[in-house]
Amino acid sequence: MILVTGGAGFIGANFVLDWLAASDEPVINLDKLTYAGNLENLASVVDDERHIFIRADIGDPEQVAGLLKRYQPRAVVNFAAESHVDRSIHGPEDFIQTNIVGTFRLLEAVRSYWDKLGSSRKHAFRFLHVSTDEVYGSLRAGAPAFSETHRYEPNSPYSASKAASDHLVRAYHHTYGLPMLTTNCSNNYGPYQFPEKLIPLMIINALAGKPLPVYGDGRQIRDWLYVKDHCRAVRHVLAEGSPGEIYNIGGWNEKANIDIVNIVCGLLDELRPRTDGKRYCEQIAFVTDRPGHDRRYAIDARKIERELGWKPAETFESGIRKTVMWYLQNPDWIDNVHSGAYRAWIEKNYAERNR
Ligand code: NAD
Ligand code: DAU
Repeated sequence: MILVTGGAGFIGANFVLDWLAASDEPVINLDKLTYAGNLENLASVVDDERHIFIRADIGDPEQVAGLLKRYQPRAVVNFAAESHVDRSIHGPEDFIQTNIVGTFRLLEAVRSYWDKLGSSRKHAFRFLHVSTDEVYGSLRAGAPAFSETHRYEPNSPYSASKAASDHLVRAYHHTYGLPMLTTNCSNNYGPYQFPEKLIPLMIINALAGKPLPVYGDGRQIRDWLYVKDHCRAVRHVLAEGSPGEIYNIGGWNEKANIDIVNIVCGLLDELRPRTDGKRYCEQIAFVTDRPGHDRRYAIDARKIERELGWKPAETFESGIRKTVMWYLQNPDWIDNVHSGAYRAWIEKNYAERNR
């Protein structure tokens, strides 16, 4: 049995679904169900006995200790986090609380559990911490992609809080010998991504006839990876990674934001043309930039390719087509995430950006 945290969010839910499709090993899924957690993402495994969902906070030491004692997992995979950069700019507190204090409390509970395991279970145990390329900061044009030894230079409250959690994970390995694995991945996209993030926001706004808000000049670069490739990489690292090691995960897929938005618009023109005969890219609106906006991220994924034999299965072209089709085929999921809280966030973030 493994314990997954944040398994009702975008990547965590994809991980749980893929895990249960690939193995018979049960999963305990611990999630606080913040605005980003959605049990609908897990609807297909609601009756599956191998999936045990527990609503809890990684920062609640008693609840986490009780779960570890009761279920005796052989591994913990930590996806739980506050994950949206713009929200961290409007209100950093939740990011400090979950990503730093929460990770610390989770580590303490795991340390105490791990200390009491018998020697063979102790040896086999793994804690995999899921992190981000944003901890490395922003790259200049033409600079080599981030390797695992790139210096940490986080620039937003979100990336600073993730960087702090990565350092705690490192320290728990170095000081206490806990068998830690850390993964730093680039931008994910795919099914079940909450529509505050670039790609689903553009799809949903386009279909609703709303403006497509591109920050600044739209020339910022992100390195895109289809979520299921990320989930498979995490499974590889969990199975074969060496304790204490960091693995960067990415798809060698650098693209400027404006190019991403145009690709999404082109796919929608083909798959769900506008009824007035116009093209979706006519909805693009350049808006005020994100404060401190990192210009470029790029991941050097050679270590995980060389040492663990992982490579992405999807190209950007195949992954983005699957993603746009998924959103077109799941209007109920979209309707249900359009809660009052979601609408309030969209109003707050974009009202002040229109220029
Ligand atoms: P998400 O915001 O979609 O989901 C986060 C999940 O964590 C939600 O289900 C939420 O309810 C849960 N959660 C939040 N606080 C919690 C707490 N205190 N206790 C328990 N559960 C809590 O995020 P995501 O995009 O799926 O990202 C998952 C992880 O992957 C994060 O750690 C993020 O930093 C990392 N990551 C994300 C990306 C990306 O492109 N989305 C890329 C690299 C790394
Ligand atoms: O790099 C990995 C990170 O990718 C993860 O660690 C984060 O959890 C995840 O949210 C993501 O961060 P970004 O800030 O890169 O993702 P986001 O989808 O918010 O934005 C992608 C790019 O698009 C970024 O340069 C900002 C821009 N953008 C975003 C939004 C929401 C726009 O131009 N307009 C928008 O409305």
